[in-house]
Amino acid sequence: MAFYSKHDRIFRKLVPSVAKLSYNLAFKMAGDTVARIVAQPFPELRDLPPNHLCVRIGAGNRVFNGHVNFIQAGNQTWLAFLARNYCTSRSDVVELGCGCGRLARPLRDPVWDPWFEGTYVGVDIDKEMIEYCRQNFPPERFQFILSPHKSRTYSRGKLPDESKVAFDLTIAAEDSKDFVYSLSLFSHLLEAEAVDYLQESYRILRAGGIMFLTFFCMEHVELGQRWTFAHRCGNAYVENPHYPEAAVAYKEAFMTELARKCGFREVTVAPRGGNRQSELVARK
Ligand SMILES: C[S@@+](CC[C@H](N)C(=O)[O-])C[C@H]1O[C@@H](n2cnc3c(N)ncnc32)[C@H](O)[C@@H]1O
Repeated sequence: MAFYSKHDRIFRKLVPSVAKLSYNLAFKMAGDTVARIVAQPFPELRDLPPNHLCVRIGAGNRVFNGHVNFIQAGNQTWLAFLARNYCTSRSDVVELGCGCGRLARPLRDPVWDPWFEGTYVGVDIDKEMIEYCRQNFPPERFQFILSPHKSRTYSRGKLPDESKVAFDLTIAAEDSKDFVYSLSLFSHLLEAEAVDYLQESYRILRAGGIMFLTFFCMEHVELGQRWTFAHRCGNAYVENPHYPEAAVAYKEAFMTELARKCGFREVTVAPRGGNRQSELVARK
């Protein structure tokens, strides 16, 4: 069982979502300054996004020193995607919940000789992160779209009346993409948003294209330590009813059925161990 300290538990009670903390002005200024000082001796760490954006996406759950984890996670994810033949260096790919570009950077770099020759579209609900990405990636091959969804954890402003929610998210043309992926997005989506993204993923993928996503699977995650997922919100199990999107889990059967209903075939779910999210992979 993974080690989970008493201090962590108390911290989590006080701060239900570290992402939420990253919108606080004092936290932003202090954190950005400390992280900039920490990175100073190392040129490779100096051009990372501002610290509060890295904290918002939960880079290794570190508050001031997530630099190396940020870089490693992106590189390791792409090594795995390529090794598993989910896509190639020429694919047209879409990332849902792209955050501040942690997984887009390995496709952009090294800027003087990029290995990736395909196209990339990133989608996120957070305006500040989308703006950051638009300013830091070449627009010829990297496009960033602001999602119309609303979230109590990841976006500001008034939440719409649930009964009036109508998503009009069009990411790309039908049958135009090879690979759609998301890392730790479905762990922040309630049912309506999860359905919206699965349907849109299916629509935009070419026949044979792959969808990869991670989610907290009720049957795989270790309950009782870091997570309890004790509250229900429709088919979603949430950690905190006041901030339901802060951490969301689903049953394996619900996710596989949903993917199948959207049209996907070869749907598989695999655990990744401990408190980590499970992987769902499916083909159009
Ligand atoms: C834990 S972060 C992961 C970010 C990125 N996938 C990564 O691994 O670096 C979750 C991301 O999902 C985004 N997000 C949350 N709800 C969303 C929604 N309904 N639509 C699009 N993005 C959303 C958040 O803004 C945040 O960037």
